[in-house]
Parts: sequence; structure tokens; C-alpha cells
Amino acid sequence: MSLAKNIEKTFALTTPLYYVNDLPHIGSAYTTIAADVTVRFQRLLGNPALLVTGTDEHGQKIQRAAESKGKAPQEFVDEISGGFDTLWHLLDIKYDRFIRTTDPRHEAIVKEFFQRVWEKGDIYLGQQKGWYCVSCEEFKEERELLPEHRCPIHPNKEVEWRDEGNYFFRLSQYQSQLEELYTSKPDFIQPESRRKEVLNFVKQGLQDFSISRVNVDWGFPVPADSKHTLYVWFDALLGYITALLEPEAEPNLANAVSQWYPFNLHLIGKDILRFHAVYWPAMLMSAGLPLPDRVFGHGFLTKDGQKMGKSMGNTLDPIALVKTYGADAVRYYFLKEIEFGKDGDFNEVRFINVLNADLANDLGNLLNRTLNMVKKYCGGNLPAITNEDIPNDNPLKAIALDLGETVKVAYERLAFNQACEAIMTLVQASNKYIDDQAPWTLYKKGHQASVEQVLYTVLESVRLAAYLLSPVIPKISSDIYQQLGFGVDFNLQAVAAANTPFCTHGKWGLLSNQQTLGEPRPIFKRLELPQND
Ligand code: MSP
Repeated sequence: MSLAKNIEKTFALTTPLYYVNDLPHIGSAYTTIAADVTVRFQRLLGNPALLVTGTDEHGQKIQRAAESKGKAPQEFVDEISGGFDTLWHLLDIKYDRFIRTTDPRHEAIVKEFFQRVWEKGDIYLGQQKGWYCVSCEEFKEERELLPEHRCPIHPNKEVEWRDEGNYFFRLSQYQSQLEELYTSKPDFIQPESRRKEVLNFVKQGLQDFSISRVNVDWGFPVPADSKHTLYVWFDALLGYITALLEPEAEPNLANAVSQWYPFNLHLIGKDILRFHAVYWPAMLMSAGLPLPDRVFGHGFLTKDGQKMGKSMGNTLDPIALVKTYGADAVRYYFLKEIEFGKDGDFNEVRFINVLNADLANDLGNLLNRTLNMVKKYCGGNLPAITNEDIPNDNPLKAIALDLGETVKVAYERLAFNQACEAIMTLVQASNKYIDDQAPWTLYKKGHQASVEQVLYTVLESVRLAAYLLSPVIPKISSDIYQQLGFGVDFNLQAVAAANTPFCTHGKWGLLSNQQTLGEPRPIFKRLELPQND
């Protein structure tokens, strides 16, 4: 359908649109970091890529949050939405589109979409009775609830009883089409555990869901009946589509889906899987729009074993974390230490230990001491050695030959921890190799050719590791590349993608004596454990 899709292998992905009931916490940062890494990797592969993020600003949860601060909703959401943008800058997140669901252009898209679904006959007026969790903005089945009618995701909140006239979307009509989708596209929902969860849910029989509210003003009026406000999720999901509008384009569906659409990937947390893997495809089917390729539901970050969340009041302040430790440290820790898809706990001692071990010691010291040896033993110049001079069974080259491909597959599967671990295997092997080869002894014995081979092999391995890690730790990778004589800033992505394409830089053996090495300087300062007061 889109021109861009036909010409090149484009890649468009979304983060969820975050609720603005409070400032962002590390849970919201987690998805966005993963999305940013994914988009950066696609760019290195040479694929035009688009990262959509934004904020979900309507509904009762936000309305109440604004009231509790004594602010008008619009004023309140303007303030909080800005906080997300600030955090993304601090974390080196390079998004392409930031959609706010209060954007007037969004209303036009929502109206047109609603009209299509209405004309299809998939919307009707009915009576909604049930338990509602305002924090989830979702009705819950009685059997899902904890004792005292508490929400399992927000156990500190009681659900509220509702009995009101609402408009409904005929989800039940799409039961077999959805089942057919999950069967014909087994990769549509990932990881496998989430796919099973959705299949089980759908197997129980889909119920129509209500898409309007009568007791909430903060939202778009239902086009067919302005006494009703559109349900926040119906409005929010469509934000993904509005985000695709070019700035000057007239806000209509045809313009919005003319480029980048359909999405290649929706990255979300596991709590909002149903909305993305069941409701959203059914809504798109009803409106006659193509479906996304893949929905990936990651796990929760926990603190002391409990989901961290704004509504739970046990969040870790991401701004403080980034200001204390730096963006690369935060990005690396969460992606390396937690299997994407599984839950993971944050612990500051572990955080510091991992970063010191991997980035300060294994990677940082390796580069530093090797560059210093090049200064001492080779006059500061890279030896005139090329890939061909190093035998394929050299312990580092043997690991490095397939590394690019292994890491590519891992990034594409969103197995970030596996990508980082594979890269760190080369780094650790490099440390061992240099200790085993002892170039200082070889030098004393006058074996200059061997000294040069060892140093070349190690520096080239560090280069490859830095390149492959650049989506995760762009600043550190840029620093390493600059010390190796490449004028590259991985945060200037278009330039980096053009100058350091994966097809050449993703392979071992690129370094040559054409490079003028820079002054060795530490790339990552050791972190100290916080003092207990
Ligand atoms: N506004 C909806 C999404 C609408 S998308 C059209 C929403 N917002 S949210 O701010 O509550 O959550 C956004 C994302 O953050 C979700 O994917 C959620 O899973 C994720 N996280 C919230 N807390 C989290 C953790 N503690 N850990 C990891 N991610 C978590 O839902």
C-alpha cells in the first residue's frame, strides 16, 4: 500500500503511548529503551526506520489525577507530557514521532475511524455492568479479582462497580478471524508464553467491549452521540496511526497510512497485551486496515518483587538514575541483565557490579591497556596488518567471524541480553588472549611481528564489540570508535548508518593502519556503591 514499503525494507515500530497521570518511571523507560535500540539496529542494517512514541492523555485516570492536583486537565497533561520528552532526551532516545492524544489532528483520525466501524455495523448501544479498574482503564472479570475487589495489577486499588449505558464494539464478530490470524501468523504475538496466554483468552469466547463512558468528560465525544465520551483505549490505540501523519498533511486516514503503515512491531508490556493482540487487530479488521506484523509483550520490572508503577507508588526515579550513572549505564543494565519478555528485579548493588565488571573492567580496561601498549611497542600507530594476516583459527577471530550474524539474529528477535552476552564473550576472550599472549614478554624477546598481531587482533575485536553494542551504549561506542581513529558519533544516526554500515562494520577484520589512533582515555568511570547513611 505504501510507496516506502514497496521500495525499501522499512521498519516502523511503536512504544505504548504512556499515561500522563504522573511523571515517567523506569518501567516506561524500559520499553522505550528497547524500542530505541531496535530502531538503531535497523538503521545500521540500512533500513529506513521510524520510532513512534507519545502520551495517552484522556480518560478517567488522567481526569482524576488532574483533579487531585487541582489543575485543569489540559494544563496538567501538558506539564506531564513534557516530562516524558525530557527523559527521552536524557536517555538518548531518538524517537521520530511523538504523538499526544490531545492533538486536535488525532480527533479527526478517531472520528473517521469510528465512522468506518459504525458503518460496518460493529458498534451498538448496550448496558455495561461490571467491575472497573480506573488504573488499568479496564473492566475486570469477577474471577480475576483479588479479595476485597482489588485489581491484581494494582493491588492497592479497589475496582469500582459500573452499571451504565455504553456503546459497544462487536468484538465477538471477530472470534474466528482472530483465531485464523494467530494460526496463520504464529509470530504475531511474542514471546511464546504471551501467545499462549492470548490463545487461552480467546478460546474462552470473546465478549463485545464497551467503547464509551457516560461519567467521564475528559476525552473525545462519541461522534454518533455526544452525551458519551469515547473510551480512552479506543482513542489511544489510534494514536499510533495519527502519529504517522506528516506534519503538513491533512488529518485523514488515507494520508496517515500512506507511508510506514502497517507497523512492523508494537512493543508493549505484558499488562496491555489483550488490547494490542486482540482488541486492536479486531478494530483494524473492522475498519478494513492492514494489521501489524508483530506484537511483543515484555515483562515487568519489579522492585522488591513487586511491579513498579505510578499507581503503586514504588517507582524508581529514572531521571535520578540517569543523572547519577549516565544513559549508557541505565540502557545497558536493563537490556543485558533482564531477558526481554521475562520479569526482572532492580537492585542497585547488582547494577553497579554489572556495570563495573562489563563496561569499566572488561571493555574499558581492555581498550585502554591495549592502546597504551600500541603506544609503547608500536610507536602509537596501528601495525600494517590486515584480516588476511590473522589465521581463522585465532581464538578471537574464530569467535568474531560469526558474531555479527549471531548478534543480528538476537537483535531481530529482541533477545537483547543474548546480543550483549555474545558480544561480551568476545571481550572476555580478548582479555584472556592478551594475558595468555603477554605482548610485554614478546616485546622484550624482540618478537615484534607477534606483538603487532596480538595488538591488532585485540583492537579489532574491541572495535567489533563497540560497533555491535552501539545501539545499546551509543556514547561509549562512539568514544571507542573515536579512540580507534573513526570520526563517528553513533548518536548522529543517519551519518553513522551511512558511514558505518553493518555489511562492512559488522564483520571482523576492518581495522587497518589507515586509522590514526586517538589518545587513550577511560571510556567508563568505575561506579561506587552508594554509602549507607
Ligand atoms: N496508556 C496505556 C498504553 C496505551 S498504548 C496505545 C498504558 N500506559 S502506561 O503508562 O500505564 O504503561 C505503558 C507501558 O509501560 C506498558 O507497556 C506497561 O507494561 C509498561 N510498564 C508500566 N510499568 C511497568 C513496569 N514496572 N515494568 C515494565 N514495564 C511496565 O498502559
